[in-house]
Amino acid sequence: MTTSPGLALYDRVGGDPFFAALVERFYAGVAADPVLRPLYPDDLGPSVGWLTGFLVQYWGGPTGYSDERGHPRLRMRHAPFRIGQAERDAWWAHMSAAVRESGAGEVEQAELLAYFDRAADAMVNAPG
Ligand code: HEM
Repeated sequence: MTTSPGLALYDRVGGDPFFAALVERFYAGVAADPVLRPLYPDDLGPSVGWLTGFLVQYWGGPTGYSDERGHPRLRMRHAPFRIGQAERDAWWAHMSAAVRESGAGEVEQAELLAYFDRAADAMVNAPG
């Protein structure tokens, strides 16, 4: 894959379909995870849509997420859930696997992984 500096990662990876597939893979992992599954609502459909929209927007695509949900305020939105190291590590395991299976170029995978690693740390709100 050729890299095009200056082009948003959203465009470099192929836009909406890339993020939709990434998040589908991620949530397939969450659905089968004994640590994470209890945190999420029974119907994962809305969660899939919000995470997809958020990532599309974050990486330079259309801003539909904020049009619908407002400012992301992710730490605040995660405050109702107990997120310790175990939850963080489970989340990261599914997301990093989804990125590695995504078919994105090496540079784009590295960018995505560095971001998710940092963002997952930032969401931790409980010890242990
Ligand atoms: C560290 C471990 C994490 C856990 C255990 C976790 C768990 C959750 C849970 C239980 C929800 C509520 C279900 C829902 O409304 O979709 C949620 C929502 C969400 N999470 Fe996470 N999350 C984690 C990290 C992250 C990270 C790193 C990001 C972003 C890169 C993220 C992005 C989102 C988004 C965008 C939503 C939907 C917010 C909304 O519009 O309501 N999460 N998460």
